[in-house]
Amino acid sequence: MIVRDAVVRAPAYRFRAHPHRVKLDQNEAPGDLPEALKRRALERMMEVPWNRYPELRAESVAAALAERDDWAPDGVVVAPGSNVLIQAAVIASGIGRRVVTVAPTFAVYAAQARLLGVPTHEVPLREDDFGLDVAALTEALRHGPGVLFLADPAAPTGNRLDDADLAAVLDAAERGGFLVVFDEAYWPYDGRHRLDLVRGRPDRIALRTCSKVDGLGGVRLGYALAEPDTAEHLGKVLLPFDVGVLQAAVVRTVLDDPEADAVRTRRIATARSERERVAAALRATAGVDPHPSVTNFVLFRVDDPEGVHRRLLERGVLIRRQDHLLPGRLRVTIGTPEENDAFLEALPAALRAEEEGVPR
Ligand SMILES: Cc1ncc(COP(=O)(O)O)c(C=O)c1O
Repeated sequence: MIVRDAVVRAPAYRFRAHPHRVKLDQNEAPGDLPEALKRRALERMMEVPWNRYPELRAESVAAALAERDDWAPDGVVVAPGSNVLIQAAVIASGIGRRVVTVAPTFAVYAAQARLLGVPTHEVPLREDDFGLDVAALTEALRHGPGVLFLADPAAPTGNRLDDADLAAVLDAAERGGFLVVFDEAYWPYDGRHRLDLVRGRPDRIALRTCSKVDGLGGVRLGYALAEPDTAEHLGKVLLPFDVGVLQAAVVRTVLDDPEADAVRTRRIATARSERERVAAALRATAGVDPHPSVTNFVLFRVDDPEGVHRRLLERGVLIRRQDHLLPGRLRVTIGTPEENDAFLEALPAALRAEEEGVPR
């Protein structure tokens, strides 16, 4: 076979786009950036030459992100999405070794590891609270070296990892010689992060993304915060010139612009208050059992996830099935107050199996 077995065996990443009126399936920021801000980004795009290659490693974007996140510029690694940095971490520290993560978690960690032929150990989270199973992880981390991926806040479960559990797992990771990757895609919705655990530690990195709270999911930009040596190694693994001048222009406009900063602050506040409102409404709905969340999404259990998902879609509301990962679970992204109202209004009828085929 021309293609490696690992690639032949791997399922393709599937994402089905559904017709919808209300889109609450990908944990994006609801609402685009203000038009005036987008125009300023376009002006910046006009100023840069398109015939020339971009900066080798988007250094000016890295510098702006370093300033915003209070990190040394030579410790920031920029890529077209944090997905790319997940792959880079596996290439840098996983190939020929192993990858350890939890289950369920963000699918890209294990998917990339498998494609790259790396033995992958997914340790189930505790069933009651989705916390880390310290004993099982400690055992898995005895067989290093390799890479340990932890999304914190966790996805798709939405919880924050417990500090003491995490400390115990980090000890085991250190003994096993693992690079620890904290995926902080959702940290702004919680407000707490793990940079104190990364600072001064060449064996740890934090991944962040502009796809969520910065409202740039369509632009594709993610970054890692690390010690300079680790950042340099990670940068070697990435392809040169992989962030184009147009992406860089948009991201720099957003990072430099006080209006974008204000939009971001408002988004975080709305996402938090709306999350609490949606969670309370779900708790008050018979037949629905939501899990606590510190993110911009809520995972919840119903008896018939396939049917509820379909009947919501018939009413123009798109959420995400998670029952392939956890029995009975669906996940709803926190949208605008109007979108959340549309979801909450459609849900009671969607929970009733007899209400099929309602026109949108
Ligand atoms: C936990 C987690 N990490 C990373 C990503 C991907 O981020 P990016 O858009 O920067 O590739 C997502 C996107 O949904 C995510 O949920």
